[in-house]
Amino acid sequence: MPRAAVLSGLGAWVPPGTLTNEKLAAELDTSDEWIRTRTGIGRRHIISAGMCTSDLAVEAGRRALESAGAATVDYLLLATTTPDRLCPATGPEVATRLGLGTIPAFDLSAVCSGFLYGLQTGRALVLAGLAESVLVVGAESFSTLVDPEDRNTRPIFGDGAGAVVLRAGHSDEPGALRAVNVHSDGSLAELITVAGGGARARAAGDDRPAHIRMRGRSTFMAAVSHMEAVTRQTVDEVGWQLADVDRVVGHQANVRILHSLVKHLGLPESAAIVHLHAVGNTAAASIPLALHHGVTTGRLGVGHRVVTPAFGAGATWGAAALVWPDVKVLPG
Ligand code: ACO
Repeated sequence: MPRAAVLSGLGAWVPPGTLTNEKLAAELDTSDEWIRTRTGIGRRHIISAGMCTSDLAVEAGRRALESAGAATVDYLLLATTTPDRLCPATGPEVATRLGLGTIPAFDLSAVCSGFLYGLQTGRALVLAGLAESVLVVGAESFSTLVDPEDRNTRPIFGDGAGAVVLRAGHSDEPGALRAVNVHSDGSLAELITVAGGGARARAAGDDRPAHIRMRGRSTFMAAVSHMEAVTRQTVDEVGWQLADVDRVVGHQANVRILHSLVKHLGLPESAAIVHLHAVGNTAAASIPLALHHGVTTGRLGVGHRVVTPAFGAGATWGAAALVWPDVKVLPG
């Protein structure tokens, strides 16, 4: 049987502090009703003073390792848009704090598709025989990138982390990543940007703050069409029919995107796992957090055929397909 990267552990963690729609409505020109009906979000979790992305990543990573029954792994990949510092990468600190010794550990940045880029990279390491196991973490403190005055973005984003362990196995096992596809299109870069804080701004003497700006309507339309296309591509590659898909665990940006996506795919609304009401858009952490939510609520079960489409800044997009394995998870 061909070698495969097999999902063998899942962990998730969100910081305890919450920011409700009501609290936001007291600070911004918005309302609980607008946020709920236009996005589906009810609250988001926010880091407290002194906490940062590495703290979230360590908590989720520890739970994923415990879920897999693994004391160590060969690589750690941290998907994040909000590293603790511009330099050094946050991955090595996370690996050290998890007691993983001197394993290779690095950050990768593909924003809301970051977890899928992490899965693809981890899978490639396993398929090449360079690793027997990989910890893939998606962790974000997106609350640090929003402009507190911007009603277009502040209600949307939240903080959190999710992680999976991939181990070497066989392609017919539950949990085997049967297909992963990732894409990018830099011509869409202006859809979602953080203009301040990077080399371009420094070189131009531009000292505006690092705040995220999003062209919401255009992003919405691009998200639905690219997530639909990559889901079709991925399902085709596995040899499934769309009707075979039991659960779509998509990037949690907007409940209207998730419902529109499953409708375009000809699937029932109930196929979509929806978790953003409780956490908002957590970018690279979104899919593992939604997987964890699916398992802990019983909406995602052993044997389900799962597809995980995402779309985000870059633009980047992608999807993975697997049959859900019997993984035990700890509370997040
Ligand atoms: N409260 C009240 N009104 C608001 C708010 C708010 N928080 N935000 C915007 N509005 C207003 C706008 O000003 C506008 O008013 P106008 O008609 O008087 O001009 C009106 O609501 C409609 O604005 P739109 O931006 O067209 O609203 P839309 O229905 O498109 O919803 C949203 C905006 C939620 C951002 C949606 O477009 C969306 O979800 N986009 C996709 C997000 C996404 O997929 N992101 C990808 C990943 S993110 C990443 O990679 C980092």
